[in-house]
Amino acid sequence: MTPRPSAAGTRLSGKLGLSDRIFAGLRSRTLLSTVEAGLARVETELEGEVRSADKLADVTARYLYEAGGKRVRPMLAILTAQLGQGTTKEVVEVATALELTHLGSLYHDDVMDGADKRRGVPSAQTVWGNNIAILTGDLLFARASQLMARRGERAIQLQADTFERLVLGQMHETVGPQEGDEPVDFYLKVLADKTGSLIAAAAQSGVIYSGAPEEFEQPMVAFGEKAGVAFQLLDDVIDLSPDPSETGKVPGTDLRAGVPTMPYLLLGHRSDAASADLRSRIDEGQERIAAAAQSGVIYSGAPEEFEQPMVVFGEKAGVAFQLLDDVIDLSPDPSETGKVPGTDLRAGVPTMPYLLLGHRSDAASADLRARIDDGQERIAAGADPSILDGALAELRDHETTHETLRLAHQWSQEAIDALAPLPDGAVREALTRFARAVADRSA
Ligand code: IPE
Ligand code: IPE
Ligand code: MG
Ligand code: MG
Repeated sequence: MTPRPSAAGTRLSGKLGLSDRIFAGLRSRTLLSTVEAGLARVETELEGEVRSADKLADVTARYLYEAGGKRVRPMLAILTAQLGQGTTKEVVEVATALELTHLGSLYHDDVMDGADKRRGVPSAQTVWGNNIAILTGDLLFARASQLMARRGERAIQLQADTFERLVLGQMHETVGPQEGDEPVDFYLKVLADKTGSLIAAAAQSGVIYSGAPEEFEQPMVAFGEKAGVAFQLLDDVIDLSPDPSETGKVPGTDLRAGVPTMPYLLLGHRSDAASADLRSRIDEGQERIAAAAQSGVIYSGAPEEFEQPMVVFGEKAGVAFQLLDDVIDLSPDPSETGKVPGTDLRAGVPTMPYLLLGHRSDAASADLRARIDDGQERIAAGADPSILDGALAELRDHETTHETLRLAHQWSQEAIDALAPLPDGAVREALTRFARAVADRSA
């Protein structure tokens, strides 16, 4: 099931009260309504752009759009467009394309940051997995490019240059400062690239596509960049906010994922013991979170030739495990299994002991199988599930259940055989025990 986005979303910076703070008390009362009207046009355009004929893409691309967003970039484009002929059709299209670029980057960013929430809803990759989230971001970039292409070469160039900076900013943030880079300066450059670039492009495009005087263009670029960095610095503080109902994000997502945000970096500039201690506690916590995330990978960094044997081992042990599950389904003792006896068989799931009955030609086996079939049909039609108690007890003691256990042991032995290329030692021993335990369990 797809989670429904929360409310109708946050239009015009509603949640953070940005619009109020920008426009309240402004001399021109008409500017607010002009911007509101322009944003409404962008909204209509956006709504069309996130639609898709493909059923899955239609749901995934609309998902974060419908969840809300402050529309800061279009608002800026519309605002600077008022330096020229106002909110032209071109301004609306370019502002929409920039917001789509932003939207696509959020799908990707949440995969990169392992973020659980965005705009108050579960992030896209937690709903559809990384692949679909990444591809949805790509789809939105494609839509942004199509829109820019309508405006011609200059718009495509602006989009491509901006996007390149955004991507490099994200990449540099990921690899971190290199030898000779000053961490805080490096980070400010990252902020300018990953966030400032797009906000600057928004401010610039309002000038270009409203036909405003050319001499406004560079000042607007510089303004957008600086404002973008300031915006992103606030984002680092918001990451520390304890209140997800206000931010729509999981508190501490960046820091927990090891992204060194500005408050953390500035700790490194301080020489007092308390700052150093806080920083090392954060470092230690990040390392422990990262180690826990890797703990499922048994052979990280182990020789490549162990990889295939591990695949075979896992597969064989998994079959053994599942065969035991079929036997456990027949166990009469829920206190041991933690499950309701006969859940699978009463529900008509053909488990191995039942299937093996079909391999046998004696009348008793055929009769037992027919009684189980009959019971399953009656249960499906509403009869009390206990009508199968007798037949299930019989199946539990039947030769086919013992045959299932033998099969489980066989698969478990094959799993152990697959370990042959591994050196003797504690790991191999533990895996061997694991495979045995899998075929010799009662819960
Ligand atoms: C979030 O941007 C990602 C950053 C670049 C900081 P916004 O804070 O503009 O996100 P929405 O569009 O309002 O959700
Ligand atoms: C997002 O930066 C930047 C881009 C999407 C290009 P962050 O990772 O710092 O932003 P949030 O906190 O997830 O919104
Ligand atoms: Mg993020
Ligand atoms: Mg990020």
